[in-house]
Amino acid sequence: MKEIRFRFGTVSSRVIFQQRIEPEDLAAPGGVLTVFDTHTWRLFGRSRVSRAAGSVVLPAGERSKTWRGAGRVLSAAARRGLGRDGLIAGIGGGVVCDLAAFCASLYMRGCSLTLVPTTLLAMVDAALGGKTGVDLPGAKNMAGTFYPAGEIRIVPAALASLPDRELRSGLAEAAKNALLGDADLLATLERGRGRLLDREPDLLEDVVERCIRVKGAVVEEDFREQGRRAILNLGHTFGHALEAATGFRRYTHGEAVAWGLKMALRLGERLGVTPPEHARRVERLLESYGFDLHPWTGAPEKLLAAMQADKKKREGRLRFVLQRGVGDTLVQPVEEERVWELLAAERRPPTAAPAGRTGDGTGS
Ligand SMILES: NC(=O)c1ccc[n+]([C@@H]2O[C@H](COP(=O)([O-])OP(=O)(O)OC[C@H]3O[C@@H](n4cnc5c(N)ncnc54)[C@H](O)[C@@H]3O)[C@@H](O)[C@H]2O)c1
Repeated sequence: MKEIRFRFGTVSSRVIFQQRIEPEDLAAPGGVLTVFDTHTWRLFGRSRVSRAAGSVVLPAGERSKTWRGAGRVLSAAARRGLGRDGLIAGIGGGVVCDLAAFCASLYMRGCSLTLVPTTLLAMVDAALGGKTGVDLPGAKNMAGTFYPAGEIRIVPAALASLPDRELRSGLAEAAKNALLGDADLLATLERGRGRLLDREPDLLEDVVERCIRVKGAVVEEDFREQGRRAILNLGHTFGHALEAATGFRRYTHGEAVAWGLKMALRLGERLGVTPPEHARRVERLLESYGFDLHPWTGAPEKLLAAMQADKKKREGRLRFVLQRGVGDTLVQPVEEERVWELLAAERRPPTAAPAGRTGDGTGS
């Protein structure tokens, strides 16, 4: 059993790699409430673990990351009589992790929290670092708290049932982490594509661990995003705008981030920050995983309007995370006109067919 410890603000977060979850992994004096979505309940909910705890099961997908979803979890905790020394455990993808963490931060002004991420995206990103939240109408993650899980239990075997599209989605966030600070991981993603898509367990576990180390180091330095943590948003200003402009249904988070990475590097290229060879290298990688790098056919104004609603704006100006190279990242304001020009240039021509979508209907 491998373990990595981080200190996020005043909280110590333990990441534990294990083969399966045992009932004693999710135990607390004040009782336990497990949170699933309908898919993860079907896959993992009949375990000895959930029989020992109370459970709430939410509809799968982003539509559960709402006040209503949070209300259901908090009411279930109260009905179960969870004490302040109780535990909320989220078992699922990023949606379940974000929502369970949000509820744990509110229940009795804060109870214990364990996350068991079951998508690759949640393992490499969402479960770590303490950002919790729910979406407001048309505005993703607009209400939330900082509340790191005391324990994050990673069971790589849980990825066996993940649909290909969701696996790929997690690999986009893995590419982001590689770009932020692990050149070896970037090379692994390039060379190991076939083995990763075939879910070779050791390689997947290695990718997850490396991503956790990159993200964990950034968050330890700047837990409340006063500065450096903002680099974790590489590709996300574009990605969130695409998700919002397409109603959060058409693309998974990772698919939107893949396009966002390409756009952030192209923006950097236009501003003279990003060397063209770095941008091309990342585009080749994303294309090799089958991501659609021209998903947007609409007016640039619609994406710009979505960006204006983004939390990353400061003093009314859009800010973008840009790169000079692997591990060399900066955040800077960019004139809206420059962004508009890029969006207009990158819009998919009406005749071109979408590339590489493998939709299976389970996306967020
Ligand atoms: N808090 C953070 O720092 C952070 C970081 C990145 C993303 N996020 C959030 O994460 C969310 C996206 O997460 P996601 O992509 O995991 O989406 P998700 O939670 O909706 O999961 C995707 C789909 O996979 C299913 N699923 C989960 N585990 C499975 C398994 N092992 N086998 C088969 N199916 C499984 C789910 O039921 C769902 O249908 C977004 O809301 C995003 O905002 C948060």
